[in-house]
Amino acid sequence: MNKLKNCLKSIQEKIDFKPEVALILGSGLGDFADEINIVDTIDYTEIEGFPVSTVKGHKGRFVFGYVENVPVVIMQGRIHYYEGYAMQDVVLPTRLMGLMGAKKLILTNAAGTCNPNFRPGDLMMITDHITTAIPSPLIGENLDELGPRFPDMSEVYSKRMRSIIIDCASRLHLSLRQGIYVQFTGPNYETPAEIQLAQSWHGDAVGMSTAVEAMAAKHMGMEVCGISCITNMAAGLSQNALNHEEVQDIASQISTSFKSLIKEMIVSI
Ligand code: HPA
Repeated sequence: MNKLKNCLKSIQEKIDFKPEVALILGSGLGDFADEINIVDTIDYTEIEGFPVSTVKGHKGRFVFGYVENVPVVIMQGRIHYYEGYAMQDVVLPTRLMGLMGAKKLILTNAAGTCNPNFRPGDLMMITDHITTAIPSPLIGENLDELGPRFPDMSEVYSKRMRSIIIDCASRLHLSLRQGIYVQFTGPNYETPAEIQLAQSWHGDAVGMSTAVEAMAAKHMGMEVCGISCITNMAAGLSQNALNHEEVQDIASQISTSFKSLIKEMIVSI
């Protein structure tokens, strides 16, 4: 809690801004931040005690601004477990955005799909998640100031928001998949056998982020929703070997529809 409070103090010394909506941008999706009316930015390196991201293609900064009249804070570049951070550090920025005042969280990511009916280029609204393959971010001493020791996870992705997102997509004439996101640790992509496991769990998308952030946000009472940009068929579902560049390429190809959906969501949720 001390680490969180120090980071919050460090941010509040630099900017006086109360976001309503927090947004985390996934791999290849970072340029959404250029779409908003930017008030200020803070590099993660400027925040004392903040875990800093190292992966190529991830800009590490908070962007503060407005979409129409909605104040938003955006994480342009997230912290991943595979970088070697403790899970508590992975979710620190999410908690920080909650403490800044954001009551609503939009999570986004690039993901593979293990649903043979889905295709690269699809947008998927996350209906639920599975974190069985990774440690919970809530392990360790409970931060009672944030939420309860044994938080309910029966509706992590808000039903209210999901119904609004469906309306947003339909207004924009975008087709929207819905499905369950399975988080693995990465940084390696999964094996075909692991993808079969995810399928047997009824997962639709696989990735290396998001679900733990959703849990931390839910723990502290934020309302959460999530969109996956499907960048590839998961291991074993196509002949191709997976690579990060291709994932980023496809993510930026989806970015026009992705950006319009996220904008519409911000002003509608
Ligand atoms: N697996 C895990 N993470 C991913 C994938 C994948 O196939 N695609 C994009 N992120």
